[in-house]
Amino acid sequence: MRIDKLLCELNIGSRSEVKVLLKKGLITVNGEKLLKPETKIDEKTAVVSYKGKEFRYQPFVYYMMNKPAGVVSATEDSLSGTVLDVLAENLKEIYGDDLSGVPIRDIFPVGRLDKDTVGLLLLTNDGELAHNLLSPKKHVEKRYYVETDLSITRDAADRLMKGVAISEQEFTREAKVELLSDKECIIAITEGKFHQVKRMFQAVGLKVLYLKRISMGSLFLDETLPEGKVRELTQEEVYRLC
Ligand code: URA
Repeated sequence: MRIDKLLCELNIGSRSEVKVLLKKGLITVNGEKLLKPETKIDEKTAVVSYKGKEFRYQPFVYYMMNKPAGVVSATEDSLSGTVLDVLAENLKEIYGDDLSGVPIRDIFPVGRLDKDTVGLLLLTNDGELAHNLLSPKKHVEKRYYVETDLSITRDAADRLMKGVAISEQEFTREAKVELLSDKECIIAITEGKFHQVKRMFQAVGLKVLYLKRISMGSLFLDETLPEGKVRELTQEEVYRLC
């Protein structure tokens, strides 16, 4: 990889900013001063030093967020705060205002949770993993904790499990429902249709009052992670997901 590209990916600066840093001799790679932006280096072994800090390249990053209500699952939005704003606030709390060396480029949320839905959201720049988790063909299981306005009867639970019509053309696949109390359950679905859980409950005459995603494939929401907080996935979590 070209050194200027690596420096950009490490979030040290824009292409033109890192060019200046290189020309000024402020960047060393494996102890050697590199001046030319086009110099090719092996990004897997390179140790970049800048301002007394050392940086190593990480091709992909994976963050788990306990999404709070009130923000949208998008990279930008003209009206509301986004989950990327929440991520940036968290990273500033962890690393301070200087995010150089913190790989945050090209991160996006894997799938969407509604603005009022809380819980597990994966943020990454790994497009292949996102595709594997979201592809309708892969049937990745997503589990949600649900609170409803009225009692979830055995009959309603059975209908949800068999599959319901959520529009004239859309039928849901089989789901699993675990009743926790009169108005609380866990539902596991293997699709990701628009507002799917809310529309499934609507189809059996119930309104969802609270919705929290608790797992996606092999990834489970860390119950110690407060709402609005973010942590990096552990190596084991990444390994199991990939
Ligand atoms: N189903 C919904 O209705 N909303 C979500 O946010 C996720 C699944």
